[in-house]
Amino acid sequence: MEMKSIAYAILAIFMVSIFLGCVSAPPETELKADGKSVYDFIIKENYKNWKKWPGTGEIYPKSTEKPSEPHGAFLTTYVNDDAFAAIEGKKGILPEESIIVKENYGPDKKLAAITVMYKEKGYDPAHNDWFWAKYQPDGTIDAEGKVEGCIDCHALPKDIFKDKTNDYVWSSDLR
Ligand code: HEC
Repeated sequence: MEMKSIAYAILAIFMVSIFLGCVSAPPETELKADGKSVYDFIIKENYKNWKKWPGTGEIYPKSTEKPSEPHGAFLTTYVNDDAFAAIEGKKGILPEESIIVKENYGPDKKLAAITVMYKEKGYDPAHNDWFWAKYQPDGTIDAEGKVEGCIDCHALPKDIFKDKTNDYVWSSDLR
């Protein structure tokens, strides 16, 4: 009798652990400062359902006052929730794990490229830890990393907004 109930107890524990093993979430797609990882993440997270940069709409014409040429004639700019809250809250800087996804459209409003900024703690302390990437519409990586061209031009908003860096973003004054 005794042995039987011990056996049942062991069996029960065994089955509960199998059950828990099955229901526990599979590991998240790891997000790291790498072109493929970032692209897979924004696609998996369905960035097109994210909020747009505060004050912007869908397929808006590029600014006439800023050097927006590399981004094409029309833009749509999506941000994840953390970034959105910091921009709206005028925090002056975007938090770690912020992601900005900009769709770049030609004059014909056809998607030409996707440019992304992703902030990873410790990635590039000299430039506010931004990782930069440019993709073709099918996800092919055209540029990624600490891309000098992106950084140099995105360092200029500091002059317009009269802030130390404006966190390397152009679309609005963060303060
Ligand atoms: C010659 C200047 C220039 C270069 C080079 C450039 N950008 Fe930009 N970028 C801009 C401007 C200007 C805007 C704002 C667009 C607007 O409002 O018309 C912008 C906006 C963005 C945004 C939206 C967030 C923000 O800063 O407002 C992202 C993301 C972005 N660029 C990524 C990139 C990446 C990635 C590269 C390099 C592959 C790059 N940019 C190269 C000028 C540049």
